[in-house]
Amino acid sequence: MKYFPRTKQFSQALAFTIAGLTLAACSPTSEQAAEEARLPISINEVMASLINHSADPIWVAAWRNPQNDDDWRELEHLARQLQVGGALLTIPGTGPADRIWTDDAEWRAYAQQLSDSAARAVNAARAKDVGLISRAGDEIVDICESCHIDFKPAIPTMNIYGELSPTAGDI
Ligand code: HEC
Repeated sequence: MKYFPRTKQFSQALAFTIAGLTLAACSPTSEQAAEEARLPISINEVMASLINHSADPIWVAAWRNPQNDDDWRELEHLARQLQVGGALLTIPGTGPADRIWTDDAEWRAYAQQLSDSAARAVNAARAKDVGLISRAGDEIVDICESCHIDFKPAIPTMNIYGELSPTAGDI
């Protein structure tokens, strides 16, 4: 009984700590809210359906030479999709390794570089400048390759489409 008051103090302190933790858990910071963001599909699917699909015509543009305003407008839209696609690579989706990748600083740097180069491709398409879009395309290929060397597993985590280049058949 001699130690009772001290024990009581301790349990009060513990009770306050728990209350504090509960309060903190009930009011998430914006950082916590961002951590909870999840894509409804896997990063593999983002890669195949958005990143690969939008990037391919951008580097093809350099040798196919966009012929008219519609061609340039289409390239501008694709470059915008790639820019957003790069940002989406920082949010985990339903893939088994997604969270590990998006938590990695190097991965996030590649994703940022992809967005930045795609933004340059948007400007090149707006300026209708083949030289500039070709340069942006070269940057983009380098980023795809570097990230694949560092992160891509030899066997895809989810084999979804089985096709690599949407334009491969008509070059
Ligand atoms: C931030 C890193 C990163 C960047 C940048 C990146 N990729 Fe990927 N990519 C991956 C990873 C990791 C996978 C494997 C995903 C899986 O298996 O779940 C992948 C898979 C793919 C796939 C699916 C088919 C396969 O072989 O597995 C295609 C196609 C692809 N990437 C194309 C591209 C293209 C094109 C670019 C550039 C425009 C690009 N990627 C940029 C990391 C990246």
